[in-house]
Amino acid sequence: MRKTLLVANWKMHLNTSQASMLVHRLQERTRIQRGIEIVLAPSLLTLQPLSMQIDRRKFRLAAQNAFYKDEGAFTGEVSFSMLRDLVHYVIVGHSERRIYFGETLEMIRDKVAAAVRNEITPILCVGETQQERKEGHTRQVLHDQVTTALSNLTSNEVADMVIAYEPVWAISTFGGELAKPAQIAEAIAFIRHQIEQLYGAKVAAAVRVLYGGSVDETIAGGYLAVEGCDGALVGGASLNPYKFAGIIDAAYRLRHETEQEG
Ligand code: 13P
Repeated sequence: MRKTLLVANWKMHLNTSQASMLVHRLQERTRIQRGIEIVLAPSLLTLQPLSMQIDRRKFRLAAQNAFYKDEGAFTGEVSFSMLRDLVHYVIVGHSERRIYFGETLEMIRDKVAAAVRNEITPILCVGETQQERKEGHTRQVLHDQVTTALSNLTSNEVADMVIAYEPVWAISTFGGELAKPAQIAEAIAFIRHQIEQLYGAKVAAAVRVLYGGSVDETIAGGYLAVEGCDGALVGGASLNPYKFAGIIDAAYRLRHETEQEG
């Protein structure tokens, strides 16, 4: 059974002391849970202090971004090789990076490869805009984003990675329309189908696929129960300890039920 993965993407929020306070609150409310992995993605600046503060049995850390070269004259950038001892995961290809920072399919492919080269697991974000969905291009967009990003990886490397389906129209700050479970199930099945075509059924069954977009504690249980969904990538609600702890509880309840049934 694939582990459930809950990722808190704090985006460009919380300075170091605010982040430390949130971790303190979350740590109090979180049990150590087999089968559920909780990942915090704070700002780059805050990773180092949080790495000393977190209870590693409860939390792992992710970077929100890094540059694909390992070192060199790239003013303002941080490389995956600099992050390799600090984080387990890195978010790559978030729609905010594609839209605001002009990240192309090829840049995202190179970032995924650089993460893997440095033994950091990529959480590759894919998802269509409202316009693309309306025009019937959702599958084409997902196909292009998935196949390009993975094109330099071996099947074992793909099996270990995480893909997050985040339709842009469902992200709280881009419109926050609530996706229907059936839309999420269809997109996740399509992503797994792409992986199966390229890397085979074993790899498709191993890769973890998350959902992201306006996930909060009231809706998390329903989304996490979607066929093929292995967890959530959470933005806004992850900044609030009660809401994020509520999402963790929903995952715990679901996991518990499924394990009892199985
Ligand atoms: P929200 O949960 O605020 O919609 O953000 C989703 C997201 O972009 C996570 O990466």
